[in-house]
Amino acid sequence: MTEEQTPQSDEDRLIDPIAEAPGYQQTETRIAVNGHPIHAMSVAFPVALSFCLLGADVLFWWTGDAFWARAALWAAGTGFLFGMLAAFSGTAELLLVRGIRARAAAWTHAIIAVTLLSVLGANWGHRLYGYEAAVLPYGILLSALGAAMVAFTGWHGGKLVFDYHLGTSKGN
Ligand code: HEM
Repeated sequence: MTEEQTPQSDEDRLIDPIAEAPGYQQTETRIAVNGHPIHAMSVAFPVALSFCLLGADVLFWWTGDAFWARAALWAAGTGFLFGMLAAFSGTAELLLVRGIRARAAAWTHAIIAVTLLSVLGANWGHRLYGYEAAVLPYGILLSALGAAMVAFTGWHGGKLVFDYHLGTSKGN
């Protein structure tokens, strides 16, 4: 028997207790239509609207045209509401699928996403009583924070799917 083939003793073998949990390998989506995860389908709207919101604020700052302040109000409101819808499917997936629930990375994504939703909601509420006056400075600052956070949570969500294979139809 060569050195490489020598079996390691139990003491030498590193055991991750989380990876030993029952259902750890079970990561297939449960909130899906024909195997296509609803969460992955629904996140496109809040992601796009968060960037549109920042774009509309910058254009209002640049041109002074009230149209952009009104567009920003709608982007903030619809971004928040579609974000809440995406969060429902994401939370159901997190709680119902054992292999997703067991992974810390899934909870990290959820915490960043909920913080993003609170920023989007605050941004919308701030604009409801005077959408033009709301843009500078606090509206645009909240939009910049929201855009940074959506980039972070979106990138992290992508890692869950492409690196950890969470929520895919075949699992690991
Ligand atoms: C509490 C809320 C949320 C939870 C618990 C959650 C959980 C998850 C989980 C478990 C995945 C893996 C794929 C799946 O199982 O469907 C995922 C993917 C993803 N999430 Fe979330 N999520 C939440 C909110 C959000 C929000 C608000 C956004 C964006 C605005 C977002 C963006 C993404 C993206 C971009 C992916 C990758 C999708 C893909 O590339 O197919 N998530 N999320």
